[in-house]
Amino acid sequence: ETFDATGLHLLPGAIDAHVHFREPGYTHKEDWRTGTAAAAMGGVTTVFEMPNTDPPTGTVEALGIKQRAAAKAHVDYGLYGLLAEDNLDQLDGLVAGGVAAFKCFMGNTFGNLPSPSTGAMLEGFEIIARHGLRISLHAETASIMAWRQRKLMAAGRRDPLAHLASRPAVVATEAVSRAAILAEWTGARIHVLHISSGDELRPLREAKARGVDITGETCPHYLLFDERAYGDLGSIIRVNPPVREQHHQRALWEGLRDGTIDMIATDHAPHDPAEKVRDDIWTADCGFPGVETQMALMLTQVNAGRLSLSDYVRLSSTAPAKAFGLHPRKGAIVPGADADLALVDMARRETIRAEALHSRGRITPFEGFETVGAPVHTLVRGRFVMRDRRLVEDSVGWGLSVGRIQSMPEPQPRHVEETTAAITRTLPPARAAE
Ligand code: DOR
Ligand code: ZN
Ligand code: ZN
Repeated sequence: ETFDATGLHLLPGAIDAHVHFREPGYTHKEDWRTGTAAAAMGGVTTVFEMPNTDPPTGTVEALGIKQRAAAKAHVDYGLYGLLAEDNLDQLDGLVAGGVAAFKCFMGNTFGNLPSPSTGAMLEGFEIIARHGLRISLHAETASIMAWRQRKLMAAGRRDPLAHLASRPAVVATEAVSRAAILAEWTGARIHVLHISSGDELRPLREAKARGVDITGETCPHYLLFDERAYGDLGSIIRVNPPVREQHHQRALWEGLRDGTIDMIATDHAPHDPAEKVRDDIWTADCGFPGVETQMALMLTQVNAGRLSLSDYVRLSSTAPAKAFGLHPRKGAIVPGADADLALVDMARRETIRAEALHSRGRITPFEGFETVGAPVHTLVRGRFVMRDRRLVEDSVGWGLSVGRIQSMPEPQPRHVEETTAAITRTLPPARAAE
């Protein structure tokens, strides 16, 4: 069997380090079949799926439930384990069970998972550092967020821009700085999810300069929308963290070009219309689908000259592969790394339509966006999962977990005692008894 790739570009499939597929628990929003169908249609060959499902992926038992749900995936996947206040005794078991990375919710968001204390984070980082897996952070400080929100509500601000004002960039910047310090003490590898502001870039750059193994991502919505979107889109553009002012957007583009931001992910976060479309933005769920539209949106930016095609490949594929340990190895089939391909037509024109999305969450702020450049075929481990812009239905279940066959570089952990000793050294000497 042959097929014609005349005029197409061959790219490595995109690796999206940040998706929410909602199963188990919220399958009215998405499930593993619809979510991975959307990925296949978007040229995405590997996804890393978040633990804020019900039950959350914070115990070995819950991981088993998620693994059974994920068995119907069209594309390869890594599963995030949860790092929380109360599950430190589960972390080794989650690693043994095959999670590909960990997620720590420093701020509160969908699923209402309480954010761990800094103490629990420190100990969790120590445990995970011994295994070398990366810890991805929802870097917003819960206590600052709650305090600001209470103040705004007390002042009667319920307008869309109050949503933006409730999460000034300090909420994220403080969290990035603190997580970077914990990573530095423990030798943990960390990843900053959904960078939305220029302010977060400084602690990210500084941590990199200090030798912390830290990576960062931003998402298409932060690159393509700014605060003006609240007027047009209302609750549809509500996302955690929020899209911000234009100067932040400019800083993100600079961060992409100068290498401070390592990758593009989508924070694919589908919701049901009844939960998402609200007159009162504060009562709407946060987020929207992204895995299906990322490649067309970003190739449009490549065509517009804002990014080179090779930069796009680095940001969408090479960098996440490296950060999450998806390297081809001799003699081994490594999901996420072999013949995972997107064939793209750089001239193809399309208009994004929510009703045409394969995600169950058919609401997108990108409705009506005209794109130039789109994936037309997607192959996972050499097999078509999308062909001629059509989902290959019987590729359901073809996806494999990348956990346990990843090859993260050898961990170089410090130990609890060392960390404790180091902290003790920085304390002022105790006053002599009088
Ligand atoms: O907008 C968001 N949606 N931000 C998050 O951090 C969570 C996500 C979700 O799961 O809905
Ligand atoms: Zn998040
Ligand atoms: Zn997310």
